[in-house]
Amino acid sequence: MKTWPVMSPFPVSENVARMQSSATMAAMQAAENLRATGANVCDFGAGEPDFDTPDNIKQAADKAMRAGRTKYTANAGIRELHSGIIDFYRREFGTEYRPGEVMATAGGKQAIFNAVVTLLNPGDEALIAKPYWVTFPEIVVFAGAKPVFIETEETGFVLSAEQVERAITPRTKLLIVNSPCNPSGRVLPPAEFRRIMELTSERGIYVVSDECYLRFVYPPGEVFSAASLPAELRSRLCIAGSFSKTYAMTGWRVGYALAPADWTKAMLKVQGHSTSNANSIAQWAAVEALTGPQDSVGVMLAEYTRRRAWLLNALREIPGIKCSEPEGAFYAFPDVRGCLQKDLKTSGDFAQKLLEEEHTVVTDGAGFGAEGFLRISYATSMEQIQEGVARIKRFVEKHI
Ligand SMILES: Cc1ncc(COP(=O)(O)O)c(C=O)c1O
Repeated sequence: MKTWPVMSPFPVSENVARMQSSATMAAMQAAENLRATGANVCDFGAGEPDFDTPDNIKQAADKAMRAGRTKYTANAGIRELHSGIIDFYRREFGTEYRPGEVMATAGGKQAIFNAVVTLLNPGDEALIAKPYWVTFPEIVVFAGAKPVFIETEETGFVLSAEQVERAITPRTKLLIVNSPCNPSGRVLPPAEFRRIMELTSERGIYVVSDECYLRFVYPPGEVFSAASLPAELRSRLCIAGSFSKTYAMTGWRVGYALAPADWTKAMLKVQGHSTSNANSIAQWAAVEALTGPQDSVGVMLAEYTRRRAWLLNALREIPGIKCSEPEGAFYAFPDVRGCLQKDLKTSGDFAQKLLEEEHTVVTDGAGFGAEGFLRISYATSMEQIQEGVARIKRFVEKHI
């Protein structure tokens, strides 16, 4: 009888084998597993708003479905969404993007993926500041290129043009910037952002600016997009934007890329052979998000402001914990190195034992390239925050 070769274990491609699984998704899974046992979990792991999608957006989706807008759309998305995005950037930042420079994507993540894989070749280097969003290095690795990390602790996790300059080599092709930053919540001051863009323009380095948290900046900080820079500083720039956080639409999977026409054309090729287009109904919902009432954004920001103030004060009162002020997004990124001793040797031990002993989920900073730190998401209710911080305090007092 003929025997067939058994493929075991599955022969994962080299590029994928080099990728790490997501630390943030692991934290989400840990919370889920614990909840399934009936435990009362305090979850600071969430990377998404705890608010519901505003009703006007849901209604627009409902209307789109009933009107039969349930088919494939153009590869780049619907014209109405392009206009909404272009109008938004003209109104807010005075920038005139053209239709061939914008495309709708399945979330900001796909915009970043498209941008990176269309640019990098094996041997190329991509600069990524620490701490970084977990996905950046993995997409670079997937493209067969090399992530080169920039240490930023000396500047309080705010990237500077000098740090970028020191990291540049003849192989540097890309810099990925993320402001407001996940996980640190830090915001790049506009003047520094400009200096970085001047440097990369001068050196012919491409930039992906991940602006998924664009609208969540706390006064007196200012909302700033690289789109507002002069055209000569934007000729190698791709902006990745998202509806996920701004309009509490993480599950809808809709975002966008803004980039020069030739880069956009390449990204459309990748998208055309992978996801085709962003979800048609979500695109119509996104049109309403951009063009309808904006009060929900202010409501969320006001609530995050209130939680942030309470959380920062409370964390700073716990012995061994230091926490700088996040100017944007919805994460605190405390330094817990002062608590690491005896049985807590790393921030990973801290996170793991906190989960086991206090049923409280935080994300280990090591997954973001910052061992000794924890990411605490305050996209959860004030009651949960207060209960969770009480548990962290009890935990620290027990262990140090
Ligand atoms: C820094 C950053 N960029 C991009 C994304 C992608 O968001 P989405 O694909 O939902 O738009 C996230 C989501 O957590 C993020 O934190």
